[in-house]
Amino acid sequence: PEIRREDYKPFPWLVPETRLDFDLGLDSTRVRSRLTVVHNEKSPRSSTIRLNGDGLTPTSVKVDGEVSRAYVMDGDDLILTLDDNAHEIAIETEIDPSANSQLMGLYASSGMLCTQCEAEGFRRITFFPDRPDVLSTYTVKMSGPKALFPILLCNGNKVAEGEDGENHWAEWHDPWPKPSYLFALVAGDLVARTDRFTTMNGREVELNVYVRDGDLERTEHAMESLKRSMKWDEEVFGREYDLDLFNIVAVSDFNMGAMENKGLNVFNTKYVLADPETATDGDYDGVEGVIGHEYFHNWSGNRITCRDWFQLSLKEGFTVLRDQLFSQDMGSEPVKRIEDVRVLRGVQFPEDSGPLAHPIRPDSYREISNFYTSTVYNKGAEVIRMMKTMAGDEAFRKGTDTYFDRHDGEAATCEDFVKSIEDGAGLDLTQFRLWYSQAGTPKVTVELAHEGDEAVLTLTQTVPDTPGQTDKKPMPIPLKIALFDRTSGKHSGEELIVLDKASDTFRFGGFAEKPVLSINRSFSAPVTIQRDIAGEDLVFLAAKDDDPFARYEAMQDLMVGHLVPAAKGELSDETREAGRKDIVGALKAVIEDESLDDLMRGELLSMPSQTYISEQIEAADPGRIFEEREALKAHIGSALKDELHRLYERAEKVPYSMSAEAKGARKLKTLILVYAAASDPQKAAELAAHQYDHADNMTDRQGALMVLTGIDSAERTGKLIDFYNRYEGNALVIDKWFSLQAMSLHPQVIEHVKALADHEDFTMKNPNRVRSLYMAFAANPHGFHAASGEGYRMIADLILELDPINAQTAARFVPALGRWRKMEPARSALMREQLERIAAAPKLSRDTFEQVTRSLG
Ligand code: ARG
Ligand code: ZN
Repeated sequence: PEIRREDYKPFPWLVPETRLDFDLGLDSTRVRSRLTVVHNEKSPRSSTIRLNGDGLTPTSVKVDGEVSRAYVMDGDDLILTLDDNAHEIAIETEIDPSANSQLMGLYASSGMLCTQCEAEGFRRITFFPDRPDVLSTYTVKMSGPKALFPILLCNGNKVAEGEDGENHWAEWHDPWPKPSYLFALVAGDLVARTDRFTTMNGREVELNVYVRDGDLERTEHAMESLKRSMKWDEEVFGREYDLDLFNIVAVSDFNMGAMENKGLNVFNTKYVLADPETATDGDYDGVEGVIGHEYFHNWSGNRITCRDWFQLSLKEGFTVLRDQLFSQDMGSEPVKRIEDVRVLRGVQFPEDSGPLAHPIRPDSYREISNFYTSTVYNKGAEVIRMMKTMAGDEAFRKGTDTYFDRHDGEAATCEDFVKSIEDGAGLDLTQFRLWYSQAGTPKVTVELAHEGDEAVLTLTQTVPDTPGQTDKKPMPIPLKIALFDRTSGKHSGEELIVLDKASDTFRFGGFAEKPVLSINRSFSAPVTIQRDIAGEDLVFLAAKDDDPFARYEAMQDLMVGHLVPAAKGELSDETREAGRKDIVGALKAVIEDESLDDLMRGELLSMPSQTYISEQIEAADPGRIFEEREALKAHIGSALKDELHRLYERAEKVPYSMSAEAKGARKLKTLILVYAAASDPQKAAELAAHQYDHADNMTDRQGALMVLTGIDSAERTGKLIDFYNRYEGNALVIDKWFSLQAMSLHPQVIEHVKALADHEDFTMKNPNRVRSLYMAFAANPHGFHAASGEGYRMIADLILELDPINAQTAARFVPALGRWRKMEPARSALMREQLERIAAAPKLSRDTFEQVTRSLG
């Protein structure tokens, strides 16, 4: 059944107190719950209470101490009759954590027990009103064998503990009322890195990062990131931590990145463990970003939570924005902005233009897990970022202060957030609210004319139709622009214009000559820009724009403007030559520009991804795009051979450190190998093997191996074997080993992936491992889009095999096949055929069923 946003009703009961008692065991855990329930004044009086369950059988049900026969099961839910306004409900259940392969609820992960309750996992532990608007104060007693579970953790503070023969127990109390999705417990044999943080008002907080024995040395970066997050949230958003203890636990079997459970964040090991030998610079950034993200949820998510799951972007969009701003402040602001836009365009734009498009605040769903999407998260962040851009930093802060003051302790809505920003920042967001209800990426068409001494800018917007939504209204689109004087190469100041009509004209005086337009600077709005701009103007902006993002964009546009017509077979030999000349000239200028740091230089030298190019083409032929992209890469590699070589030699001299300079040097080295691999594979193999052998860090080693996996050479096999032997037993690094081979440009990549699926280290039970092989493969256009359709069949087989084991993870592979409408006819039919094959399977999870039906449209 479909759940609709407009059907929201408050729950008829409040649950002021929840007591849970766990007898922990890997194969059998007994859960006794005691809930105090009282009639909710905001709802009509009800004589029953619905307690959600998922696969549970109650072993005892009592109301006010008496065994109750007045309950019925309605599907998985338990419904009790209650005749008064206040009661105590006591229920016992028994669960088997080791049989829980869905990794939702209470499950076992390499000998320890942990939980994941968001969104609807708590109902797999005990019967409860498992919805985010029911807030309760939790007291939890956990007991279990001391030898197996020396560490017992839960939300809040430990208030008592004791021993009982072979068993021991701990009682935890969380003073902050919370919804069930924020509940967590962990029991296992863990060790901690411990530190302290003193908050702005002098609260002494104990910090722990719990990992398995042997991983402790790799937790320093996580701990430092946590302390930086705590400080940053005080300084930038005025938010202080509110308990005396903050625990992080790393687990190796986890469906997502991490989870913000109150006072007890549970993390995928991927976002905790890092050291130079085993983690790349990208991995380091990932740890910092996710640690920040989960910590920031303490206010945007926990202190103020969501009324219902349609409001998910209230906490996720806002928290993603907060983690992005945090990472911008910790490292390079423009490079972080470029990375975030790349994710948005690479994942969210395709989602928004496909069968799974939905507004950042969806209107309906069958399975909420399917709505933890790039749209809710990343577009959600962009929408709030636009408010910040329109308000300015100071007024925006007043808006967020208003939000936190007004709604602290509540389960709020996106509307509450917008209203708070509106009132606090002094903006009128009436029309802006359309960004919450309309799906689809707006397209802005740009025309610049020159009349007398005026530059005349005409902007037109269209919001494309998406499933269930047509005839959309124009939205306010804030665009930062600058008009450059061609002769001086300067502009007289950036301006913010807001396009809020279908079409509008803006005039700028004082231009004797037609200026060069720089638009959507710093990516001020999540839209696509269609600009009619001469190649020479793009070359100008790529060399001179003082907004780093706009400069990057000009460089990308220059290459996309060449590759799109090339892939469509629309380039004459002459235009191809001219286009290549422009691109090479612009890249050369970037190599030689001494004002650039290498991190930014690396961005400017990067080619647009295959996905991004294919998004610009109707009925795209991945094979053609791939060929053209490789051909341009090879051309650049040989045309700039000497320049790139000198750059490599310079970068090679920079010793390992986490400074921006050293990170930039590492980024350049691998990028240069990528170009070399296209233009002179044998030379590149030698260079890459050398980089591999001499690497004193994972960034260099992985980069070299990545390049080698695509070149048929003796070095390829040797280094792959070496890498495996070197890191055998380190799951996160072995994941890289799987990924590198699945992402490779090697002609036999399909055979390689099939063989890897039979490798003894491969398992369907571990989501990181599954993703390392198959997500990497599904993102490899060269493998996934093989003309035979074999890649599509492999992903469909995977979905069918994984669905009964881990539905959430299985469903995440469906969108790759859902792109069928965008492909050339032959591939389109092959993709659709696989979706139909999945749809016809006898027993599909709700997760996969919903994604497949929506994808077929
Ligand atoms: N709230 C978590 C985060 O954003 C994500 C948890 C999603 N879990 C899930 N099973 N869908 O960090
Ligand atoms: Zn989140």
